[in-house]
Amino acid sequence: MARMLLKANAVALCLAVSLSGVSAQTFQRLGTCPDLGCVIPPDQQDFLPGQEFDIRFEVHAPKNGSEAFNDGVPDEKFTATIAKDGGEAKSIADFFEHSEPELEKWTFSWFEDLFAKDANTPSVVNVASKAYRRVALYEPGDYTVTLKYYDGKTTTAKWTVRPLATKKRAKNVIFFIGDGMTTNMITAARLLAHQTVNGRYKSHLAFDDFPVIGHQMTHSIDSFITDSANSASALYTGHKSSVNAMGVYADSSADPLDDPKVETIVEMLHRIWGSAWGAVSTAFIADATPIALSGHSRLRSQYGVLIDQALNGVSNYSWTRTDGPDAYFGGGAEQFLPGSGSFQGKDYYAEFAKKGYSVSLNKTALLAAPNDKKALGIFCKSNLPVWLDRNIFPENLDTLKNDPAGGSGPAKDLPGLKEMTLKAIDVLNERGGKKGFFLMSEGASIDKQMHALDYDRALGDLLELDDTVRATIAKLKELNILDETLIVVSADHGHGFDVFGNSDTKYAAAQEDDRSKRNAIGVYANSGLSQYTQPKDGVSYGTGANFPLNWDPRYVIAAGLGANPDHREMFGVGKKPRTPAVVGADGEAYVNPSDRPSGFVVNGTLPTAETQGVHSLTDVPVYAMGPCQETFGGTYNNIDVFYKIASCLGLGHGKNVTHGDGSQCKSKRAQL
Ligand SMILES: *[C@@H]1O[C@H](CO)[C@@H](O)[C@H](O)[C@H]1NC(C)=O
Ligand SMILES: *[C@@H]1O[C@H](CO)[C@@H](O)[C@H](O)[C@H]1NC(C)=O
Ligand SMILES: *[C@@H]1O[C@H](CO)[C@@H](O)[C@H](O)[C@H]1NC(C)=O
Ligand SMILES: *[C@@H]1O[C@H](CO)[C@@H](O)[C@H](O)[C@H]1NC(C)=O
Ligand SMILES: *[C@@H]1O[C@H](CO)[C@@H](O)[C@H](O)[C@H]1NC(C)=O
Repeated sequence: MARMLLKANAVALCLAVSLSGVSAQTFQRLGTCPDLGCVIPPDQQDFLPGQEFDIRFEVHAPKNGSEAFNDGVPDEKFTATIAKDGGEAKSIADFFEHSEPELEKWTFSWFEDLFAKDANTPSVVNVASKAYRRVALYEPGDYTVTLKYYDGKTTTAKWTVRPLATKKRAKNVIFFIGDGMTTNMITAARLLAHQTVNGRYKSHLAFDDFPVIGHQMTHSIDSFITDSANSASALYTGHKSSVNAMGVYADSSADPLDDPKVETIVEMLHRIWGSAWGAVSTAFIADATPIALSGHSRLRSQYGVLIDQALNGVSNYSWTRTDGPDAYFGGGAEQFLPGSGSFQGKDYYAEFAKKGYSVSLNKTALLAAPNDKKALGIFCKSNLPVWLDRNIFPENLDTLKNDPAGGSGPAKDLPGLKEMTLKAIDVLNERGGKKGFFLMSEGASIDKQMHALDYDRALGDLLELDDTVRATIAKLKELNILDETLIVVSADHGHGFDVFGNSDTKYAAAQEDDRSKRNAIGVYANSGLSQYTQPKDGVSYGTGANFPLNWDPRYVIAAGLGANPDHREMFGVGKKPRTPAVVGADGEAYVNPSDRPSGFVVNGTLPTAETQGVHSLTDVPVYAMGPCQETFGGTYNNIDVFYKIASCLGLGHGKNVTHGDGSQCKSKRAQL
C-alpha cells in the first residue's frame, strides 16, 4: 500500500515536471525533448525544399529520478503521422514511401542537476525508437508531425519548408570563417595594423570595405553558448544542433554515428549541380569547422571516421554523398598517417591518392600540384603554427615535432592561409568550370589563441584572414570571376574579448607588486595611439602593409576576456605561445608560474577546472560582397546564413535532381 502510494506520488511529480516544461538546465535528458516522446527534427525547424534528412522518434521511460514513469518500460507501439498545412495526416511510412523501420531499444542515463552529479546518482532512462532514413520534403509549407505514445500522450513538431529557390544567382561561393571572430577582435586587429591620423584610419581591413554587413545569432539548439561543431553545422545545413554534434540532430543513443542526419550545403551542391567544393583551414582538417561540411556525427572527436566520411561519404546508413572534396588543405596528419589516429589504422594519404588526389605535404609541392586533379594538402600534425610564429618568431617552429610525413622533426616549408586559399581557388575554378564551386576557408587559430588568452597570436591570425580575403578578391578579378562569386566573411561564435586601454610595458616591469603593475594601464585619455604601426628603431618586420610594423612596442594594448582561468597578465606579445593556467595536484587550474612571471595575477571567472577561456554569447558579424549580397543585411539566425547562400546557389529545388539535368526527378512530389 505504502509502495503504491509512493508510485502514485512519483507519477504526479512526473506530470508536474512535464507540465512545467523544461526544468533541466545544466544537464538535460535530451535537449530537444522536454516530453517523454521525442520527435527529431524537433519543433520549429526549417528545411530547404528537397533537402534530405533522417527522422527519429524516441519514447522515453525514466526508470528512476524525478520523471520515473511506467516502471521504466517504454511504449513500443507508438505511432507517428505528418500533415501538410492542416490537411490529412498520414503515417510517416506512407507519406515518405519508406518501409517501416525496425524498433530499436537502448538505455541511457543523465544527471538532473549538480547535486545529483556530486552524489553520483544518475537517472536511468529506457528508450524505444525508430529511425526513417533519407527522406525529403519537396513542397514549401507548414507540416505538423505528431507522435502518439503511452495511450494518450502526444508530442508535436511544426516543420516549415521554406520557399523554392531554383535560380542560381552565384556561380561560386567563397565562405570565410574567422573562428571565434567578433567585431571587438576585428576592431583590435585594425588598431594594430592600420594607422590613424587625428582619429581617422588611413587604410582599412579588406572586409571593412564590403558593401553589406549583418549580424548572426549563434545559439545552439539546446544551449545558448555554442561550440564550433554545431555552429558550423548550422551555417552549412540550416539546422541547429547540440554542442559537439555536426550534420545530425542529437539523439539519446550511445552510437555517435546513428543520429538523424541533415544534408549539408556541399552534399546538396554536388547532388543538384555537380559543382566542385573545397575546404581550407589553419586547423587540423578533421576539426569541426572544415569537417562539418561533410561530417555527420554526434561527436566531433570522431576524427578518423569524419575524414573517411569526407572521402567516401557516410557508409553505414543510406545517405547521399559527394565524391569527396576537390581541394582539401590544412593540418592534422594524425588522421592520415597509418595507425596514428586514422580510421581503421589505414593510410589516408594512400586512400585519397587511390581516388585520384594529388597529395602535397609542403608549400612547394602544393604550389606545383596540378589544378585539374583533386588536391589534398596536409602540412603538419595538429594545427598549423600560427601566423605570428611562422612570420615573426620562426625559431618556435624548429622545436615542434609535427612532420606531416610522420618523421620525428618539425614540419618544414609551411604554407599560410593565403597560399592554401589561392591554390584552392585555382583547383576549384578549373574543376568546377561552368558548374561553379563552393570553398570554405577558415582562420582557425583566432579562436584557438583566444582560448589560450594569447591575444597577439589570435589577432595575427585575424590579420592573416584579412590578408587572404584581400588576395582572394585580387585573384578572382584576375580569373575574371569576381562578379559571379559571392564572398561571405563571418564567424561561428565569439569570445568575450575587448581592448580597454594601453599598458606601458616598461613601467609595468619596474613595479614590484600586483596592484602597482595594474597602474601601468592607461585608460581613456591615457590610452594614447597605436604604436604597432610605427617601425621599432626604424626597422619594420617586413610582413606587408596590412600587418603591424612592430609587434613589440613599449605601449601595448591592454585587453582581456570576460571568461578566463586564473592567470598572470603582462600585456604585450609573448615570444612563445601561451599556456595561461596549469592543472595543480588537486586537479584544478591555477596560474601557470612560467607564464608572464612579471605580470599581476587575475583570478578566474570560470569553473575551477577550466585551464582556458571559453566561448561567449555575442552575435557575430556577416560581411557579404557579390551576387545576393543585399540579402545579408540585418540581424538573423546562424541558420539563415545557410538559407541565404543556398538560395543564391539555387539549391531549393523541390525535387530530386541529379547534376541539374532534371532527369532523375522523382514523382514523389506530385504524389504528396
Ligand atoms: C537510478 O538507478 C541506478 C541503478 O540502476 C542508480 O545507480 C542511480 O543512483 C539511481 N538514480 C536515482 C536518481 O535514484
Ligand atoms: C534521389 O535520387 C537518388 C539517385 O536516384 C536516390 O539514390 C535517392 O534515394 C533519392 N532521394 C530521395 C529522397 O528520393
Ligand atoms: C560501420 O559499422 C561497422 C560495424 O558496426 C563498423 O565496424 C565500422 O567502423 C562502421 N563504419 C563507420 C564508417 O562508422
Ligand atoms: C616537399 O615535398 C616534396 C614532394 O613530396 C619533397 O620532394 C620535398 O623534399 C619536400 N620539401 C621539403 C622542404 O620538405
Ligand atoms: C587566485 O589565483 C591563485 C593562483 O591560481 C589561486 O591560488 C587562488 O586560490 C585564487 N583565488 C581565488 C579566490 O580563486
